[in-house]
Parts: sequence; structure tokens; C-alpha cells
Amino acid sequence: MNLSKKTIIITGASSGIGAEAAIQLAQAGATVCLIARRADELQKIQATIQAQAGQVFIYPADITDAEQLKACLDKILSEHQKIDVLVNNAARSIRRPILESLDRLHDYERTMQINYFAAVNMTLHLLPHFLANASGHIVNISTMSTQVPIPLFSAYLASKSALESFSRSLSMELKGKGIDVSIVYFPMVRTPMSSKTAIYKHMKMLDTPAAAGWIVKAIEKKSYRVSSKTGLVANALLNTAPTWAMNLSRPLFQLMDQRLKKKLKTDEA
Ligand SMILES: NC(=O)c1ccc[n+]([C@@H]2O[C@H](COP(=O)([O-])OP(=O)(O)OC[C@H]3O[C@@H](n4cnc5c(N)ncnc54)[C@H](OP(=O)(O)O)[C@@H]3O)[C@@H](O)[C@H]2O)c1
Repeated sequence: MNLSKKTIIITGASSGIGAEAAIQLAQAGATVCLIARRADELQKIQATIQAQAGQVFIYPADITDAEQLKACLDKILSEHQKIDVLVNNAARSIRRPILESLDRLHDYERTMQINYFAAVNMTLHLLPHFLANASGHIVNISTMSTQVPIPLFSAYLASKSALESFSRSLSMELKGKGIDVSIVYFPMVRTPMSSKTAIYKHMKMLDTPAAAGWIVKAIEKKSYRVSSKTGLVANALLNTAPTWAMNLSRPLFQLMDQRLKKKLKTDEA
């Protein structure tokens, strides 16, 4: 693996998968530009990478704020001659039933702000730079939960589906101009995001180094889709026999939720 001479922007690099991807990409020789709101956490990742002699720059910013996003990208473009890859990884997740969201339109708005609009805004700002170089790679982070019918995450999943649709248009329109697009469909990964839901304590999940490896793979291979086999099969079923797939999934998810809650209760007893 040799990513030297590549400069890669990673959003959401202060924690979880983004932080680990930054470390792995720097180990592979890339120069990494890290964005997130928490400067102190970015500094810790920067120190880890520098201790391994990696090339790392940090740009604290709230990328849902259009002015902060622009100032951050202007600074990056003034400090680096060429950006090769943008990884749109920053996100928030909300687990809440639709019937408990009747007065919570803001849940849908705030997930769209970071998971969709911020990623689109990052892309729109960087496209002129990529087109001027006739080369650029945009890696958009999504979830296996858009490949499978899943309850309880309507705001989160709708924002990720929007990002997937945007990615398809991007690839259709700009592949011929040297722009590559990848979508990474992560299954559950043990990170601060997934740890917020107590009942997921006993769920089998990928660890962050393995998940970060999927981002490295997407960048190296430039494949349009990086997905688990389960996600591919479930998605094929959902597309070909949606009624059957939804009817099968509902009781399976209820069963899974009951089992996880039972295990958590046993822990607490
Ligand atoms: N964990 C999972 O099970 C799982 C499964 C499927 C897909 N994914 C996807 O994988 C990606 C990484 O998730 P993760 O689990 O590693 O989450 P995480 O640990 O919660 O990290 C989220 C990152 O996003 C940043 N962020 C959030 N809001 C931001 C904002 N307004 N401006 C700039 N940065 C912001 C956070 O940094 P600050 O708070 O410092 O801003 C943090 O670095 C996400 O796209 C997520 O949807 C995760």
C-alpha cells in the first residue's frame, strides 16, 4: 500500500472510524487533513500520527456552518497544492421511533444538516479544484442499514439515502472528467456513535481498525461500492421482493431487540 503523495481530507476525524482512518492513511504515507468541531480531540489524533512520523494537519470547524466550512476549505487549499481525496465521514445518528418524533422535525433537519448538506457542501466546494486537476476522489460514508429494511432510524437513514443518491448523480455526471466516487456501507461498528445505544452493548460489531480499513480499501481501489456480503444480499432481496423482505425483517428485528434488551437486563441484575 503506497498512498504517499496523496493528500486526503477526512471529516469527522476526531473520533471513531474517521480518527482511525486518519491514522491508517497516514501510516500508508498519505498527508491527512482532519476536520471536526473538537480541536482538543483533533490534537490528540494529530499527536498520535506525528509520533509515528506521519504528515497531519488539523482544521477544527463545524461543517454544518457554511461560513466555517468555506473558511476551513479555503485554508486547506491555501496550504496544500493538491487535494486528492475527500472522505465525507462526519455524521450524527438518532435512534427514535417515528411515533416518538411527531413534534421533532428538528431531528430530521439536524441529521440532514451534517450527514447530507455538509457532505454536499464539502463536495461542491472541492469540485472546482478536482476538475482543475482532472482528478479527485470523493468517498461518502453510508451504512448497511440503507441496504436492509430497518426500523427506528428514520431521520438518520433518510439522510444517508440522500447522500447515496447524490453520489450516484455525481458519478454519472463527472466520472468522465476524472472524478471517482465511492460509497462505503458500514455494518455496525464499535464507536462512540454506536455506544450511545445501551442495548447495542452485546451486538456483534466491526472494530474501528477493521472499519477504517474499508475506507483505505475504497481509496486504493476506487471501487464505487464497499459493502458487506450481508448488505449486498439483503439489498438484492429488498429490490427484487420488497414486500416479502419487509415482512421478513419486521419480526427479525423485534426478536433481535428483545434478545439484546434481555442480555442488558441480565448484566444489570
Ligand atoms: N458506528 C457505526 O455503527 C456506524 C455504522 C454505519 C455507518 N457509520 C458511519 O460511519 C461514520 C463515522 O461514524 P462513527 O461511528 O465513527 O461516529 P463518531 O465516533 O460519533 O464520529 C462522528 C464524527 O463526526 C464529527 N462531527 C459531527 N458533527 C460535526 C460537525 N457539525 N462538524 C464537523 N464534524 C462533525 C465528530 O466530531 P466532533 O464532535 O468533534 O465535531 C466525530 O469526529 C459516520 O458517517 C456514520 O454514519 C457508523
